[in-house]
Amino acid sequence: MNRYTIFGNPVSHSKSPSMQNAGFKYLGLDCLYDKTQIKKQNIKDIFKQRDLSGANITLPHKEVAYELADIVVGEANKIKAVNTYIKRGDKIVAYNTDGSGFMMAIKEFLPISSALIIGAGGTAKAIAVALIEANIQTTVANRTASKLKFFKDIGAKTTSTKNLNTNYIYNLIINATSVGLIDDTTPIPINNLKKILKNCSYAFDCIYNKNTKFLSLSKMFCIKCKSGEDMLLYQGVKALELWTNTKATKGLIKCMRDALVNNTIS
Ligand code: ATR
Repeated sequence: MNRYTIFGNPVSHSKSPSMQNAGFKYLGLDCLYDKTQIKKQNIKDIFKQRDLSGANITLPHKEVAYELADIVVGEANKIKAVNTYIKRGDKIVAYNTDGSGFMMAIKEFLPISSALIIGAGGTAKAIAVALIEANIQTTVANRTASKLKFFKDIGAKTTSTKNLNTNYIYNLIINATSVGLIDDTTPIPINNLKKILKNCSYAFDCIYNKNTKFLSLSKMFCIKCKSGEDMLLYQGVKALELWTNTKATKGLIKCMRDALVNNTIS
C-alpha cells in the first residue's frame, strides 16, 4: 500500500483526506491518505521515516517544505512555497499546485484581461504567479505595503489598500486575505469595495465553506461569484495527477468533489 499524508498545524479540519482517498478508491489504487499535525518543521524526516509516496503541505509549513525539498518544479520556484511532495527514488520532488488549482477554478470566468488580488500572503503569491503567467494584467493590493515587493518583482502592479484606485476597472476581484474567515467584515472598506464591484464582472473568495461578507456583497452586484471550494478541489486534483501520473477524468473530479462537499471518506 502506498501512503500519503497532509502536513499542517492545525490540520484536523482538513478535507484533503476525504477528497484524496475518494480519488484513490475511484482509480482502484491501494493507497491511504491521512493527516499529520506537526509543530516542528521536520517534514522531510517524517516523510522519509514513514516511507510516504507523497504528501500535501498546508499552513504554516509551505515555505519550510520548499526549503527542504530535493528538487522543486515549475512555478513553486518563483513562489518559494510548495504544497505537494512526491517521492521519486530517494529524492523528494516538490510542486505548488495552488496556482493551477486557482486557474482551473476560474476557468468559467476566462478570458479576462485584468484582475485585482487583495492580500499578499502565500495564497496571493500562487495566484499572482498563475495570473501573470496567463498574461492577465494583475494588481495586488495589501494592507501592509512592505509585503508587496515580491509582486512587483514578478510584474504585478502593486498598491497599499489605502491608496487603491477604486475607479479602475478590473474584470475579476479576488479576496486572498483571511478577512471573512472568522469575522463578518470585508478586506477593504465596504464603500471602496462597492465602487470596485460596480465595474467588475467576477468575484472570487479564496475562503471556502462560508458565505463571506465579500461574497454576499459581490452577489448583490449580480456578478458571477465563486468561493474557494473549487480551488481546494483542483489543487488536490492536480496533486493526485502528479502522484498517479494520470490525467483526471470528469468522473474522477466529480467523485473528489462529492467527497469534498460531503466529507465522506476520511
Ligand atoms: P495565506 O498564506 O493563507 O495567504 P497569510 O500569509 O497569513 O495567509 O496572509 C494573510 C493576508 O491577509 C495578508 O495579506 C494580510 O495582510 P497583511 O499583510 O497586512 O497582514 C491579510 N489580512 C489579514 N487580516 C487582515 C485585515 N484585518 N485587513 C486586511 N488584510 C488582512
